[in-house]
Amino acid sequence: MKKLTARFHKLFGKSDNLRGFFCPGRVNLIGEHIDYLGGLVLPAAISLGITAVIRKNDSREINIFSSDFDELTTLNLDSLPRKKQSHWSDFILGVVLHLQTNGISISGCDIHISSTLPKASGLSSSAALEVLCFYMFSKIESGLEPNRIQMALDCQKIENEFIGVKCGIMDQYAVANGKKSAAILLNCNSLENEIVPLKLNDYSILLVNSNKSRELATSAYNLRIKECSESLDIIRSHRDISNLVDALDEDLNLIDSPILRKRTRHAFTENEHVKEAVKSLKLSDLNSFGKLMHASHLSLQNDFEVSCPELNHIVEALTTEPTCLGARMTGAGFGGCCVALVETESMDEVSQKLASTYTETFGFAPSFYQCIPSDGVHEIAL
Ligand code: GLA
Repeated sequence: MKKLTARFHKLFGKSDNLRGFFCPGRVNLIGEHIDYLGGLVLPAAISLGITAVIRKNDSREINIFSSDFDELTTLNLDSLPRKKQSHWSDFILGVVLHLQTNGISISGCDIHISSTLPKASGLSSSAALEVLCFYMFSKIESGLEPNRIQMALDCQKIENEFIGVKCGIMDQYAVANGKKSAAILLNCNSLENEIVPLKLNDYSILLVNSNKSRELATSAYNLRIKECSESLDIIRSHRDISNLVDALDEDLNLIDSPILRKRTRHAFTENEHVKEAVKSLKLSDLNSFGKLMHASHLSLQNDFEVSCPELNHIVEALTTEPTCLGARMTGAGFGGCCVALVETESMDEVSQKLASTYTETFGFAPSFYQCIPSDGVHEIAL
């Protein structure tokens, strides 16, 4: 923290009244691409995340320095743009506009932001920045903790309407409500949730970043949402059903398009994977949990078609390792990260072996992180 405050002082000048905030990223253990279909998901907040140091500055300007982009930008509170600017500060602008619209006046301030989350890696760096700013501005202006569930819903709305990505609630919910050493079982339809302790004994959660860029991810993501809504309409024209995850095997006969049939099958099989996975975790049956991770990946690869050769290589290579119980892509896909359950002692060896076959195949290297389930957004001591 000393380094961070020193950097802040160098940029914005010295003073004592600095405050610090941290928002984690998230990994989704299972339940992929079904949050926007009213399904069950099992994400955990992780120890990688975004840190902000902030101080009010008695002006009408919010000055933000991002150490990742190595750039200082200013939002003028008297002339805020109403639309996104296709700039990293859009997430902050979206939050400021949303809070102002909801009657929270924001003061001028200086902010230093730095992140340990790899960008565009499927670990929710956008949700982390939105929730971090929402929480920080709310606490600084009112002194009170915002309601964490409402904050997640508001940040999802900002992402949907201001940023234009039609994401579900999982990411914002997870980074706002994460709990140390646990995952969250979230019903994305009712928002009912349960904290599921992660007792992994000799195993750890390994994150493997494919480092594959994800240019097409947003358009493909929005296309999946459209396909799923078409599938739901078809089933609804025959019977009453609330969400695509409630479809049954026999409903597939109602759908002519092979693509829509596959999307539908992913929705309800993945929802079952989550139910089974939570049962296995509660019984400390990590072997079964690992098998379900693999089944989830195959469904994403073959039925939902959101994987890519790089992610498939990682999953296939890890699956042949005797010390890996299961692996799958995590997040939106088309690049980004895989999550795997690997014996802690063999993590280095497994990673090195994978790095070498992966680099040989694709010409660039993956990155590895040990994932530690952590608390959601919070204030930190500086
Ligand atoms: C992205 C979205 C989430 C979710 C995942 C896929 O991370 O932001 O809402 O849909 O993809 O499970």
